[in-house]
Amino acid sequence: MKRKYIDCKEYANVITKALNPGILLTTKAGGKVNTMTIGWGSIGVNWSRPVFIAYVRQSRYTHQMIDANPFFTVNVPYGEYDKAVLGFCGTKSGRDTDKISECSLTAVESEKINVPALKEFPLTLECRVIYREDEKPELMDSEIRDKLYTPSEDGTRDIHTVYYGEIVSAYILEEE
Ligand SMILES: Cc1cc2nc3c(=O)[nH]c(=O)nc-3n(C[C@H](O)[C@H](O)[C@H](O)COP(=O)(O)O)c2cc1C
Repeated sequence: MKRKYIDCKEYANVITKALNPGILLTTKAGGKVNTMTIGWGSIGVNWSRPVFIAYVRQSRYTHQMIDANPFFTVNVPYGEYDKAVLGFCGTKSGRDTDKISECSLTAVESEKINVPALKEFPLTLECRVIYREDEKPELMDSEIRDKLYTPSEDGTRDIHTVYYGEIVSAYILEEE
């Protein structure tokens, strides 16, 4: 496949709009590739670098994958795509399902990082994690905390870790 390189700022709107219904975030560690649906995210500038900020709950297999190999790709639909993939990748875990093969997704080698892009979700941001932070429930608006982070029996909340990915390459995959 060939890459049509883009200025990610020019596509911030497209990416932000696509978050609802959802986009994919792909990781690779221990020789395994995994992808999950995300609906929360931001694209902008931090430390004078272009960044994509992702919010991943600690229970996700993706969380474990990014911590093992701190790189990810953001995979945004561009043109026709199968919406069912977002449902599947947003409910099944890579711990027990190979979502890439179950959804017939095609991994395409990235330009600068060791996590692949996805042919079927061709608008791609290659990201290198440059900062991460666990959300602190005590600093959160109480309405949001009580609605989205109900404590489990042992008192822990399945909080999100915020990953700041420096966008090291941005492009749309196209057929040769
Ligand atoms: C539309 C949609 C948006 C989602 N957004 C997020 C998100 O931003 N962060 C998150 O941690 N989980 C989100 N999820 C849930 C994960 O995609 C889901 O738990 C997935 O099974 C995790 O896969 P993994 O265990 O392979 O990482 C979303 C699910 C859907 C359907």
